[in-house]
Amino acid sequence: MKAILASENLTEEQIEGVVNSFLEDVKSGRWKSQGWPELWVDYSVTKLALNAYTKVLAKRNDGLGLSVNCYCPGFTQTSMTRGKGSHTADEAAEAGARLALLPPHLLPSGKFFVWTSKNTTSTFIDSRL
Ligand SMILES: NC(=O)c1ccc[n+]([C@@H]2O[C@H](COP(=O)([O-])OP(=O)(O)OC[C@H]3O[C@@H](n4cnc5c(N)ncnc54)[C@H](OP(=O)(O)O)[C@@H]3O)[C@@H](O)[C@H]2O)c1
Repeated sequence: MKAILASENLTEEQIEGVVNSFLEDVKSGRWKSQGWPELWVDYSVTKLALNAYTKVLAKRNDGLGLSVNCYCPGFTQTSMTRGKGSHTADEAAEAGARLALLPPHLLPSGKFFVWTSKNTTSTFIDSRL
């Protein structure tokens, strides 16, 4: 599965195939023995699919002046975290908006951005998907 998702020629059909195979393993009750992540399995598989799809879209739109990236807001105070987190949802949204509004020639494509907040500084860490 890792090899499929890491492939340079990844397709939407392959991503769908991986997700469908996860759903089949859940339905048949054998997902634990099939090597899927043990923690937050459904969350992890959806993020895996999202990251992989970002890679497909970035490649498809290469050279067209479009940037397609993932943005992780870091540990943010929202309903999902029951209000816990190192910063507010507004701060995380503002950082994401600043990233998305960068001029196209300054914004790469096919990247995974993580925002971390420490006091007043913010950092984007990007790595190839
Ligand atoms: N919070 C964090 O620390 C953190 C960290 C890393 C990544 N993220 C990611 O950031 C994203 C937002 O997370 P969050 O913390 O803001 O979560 P949240 O507080 O649970 O909010 C999720 C939002 O998504 C909406 N939603 C859920 N299912 C939907 C659907 N099928 N169609 C349309 N809208 C739907 C919900 O709408 P309703 O309110 O109407 O249900 C809600 O507004 C998620 O992808 C999460 O994985 C969050």
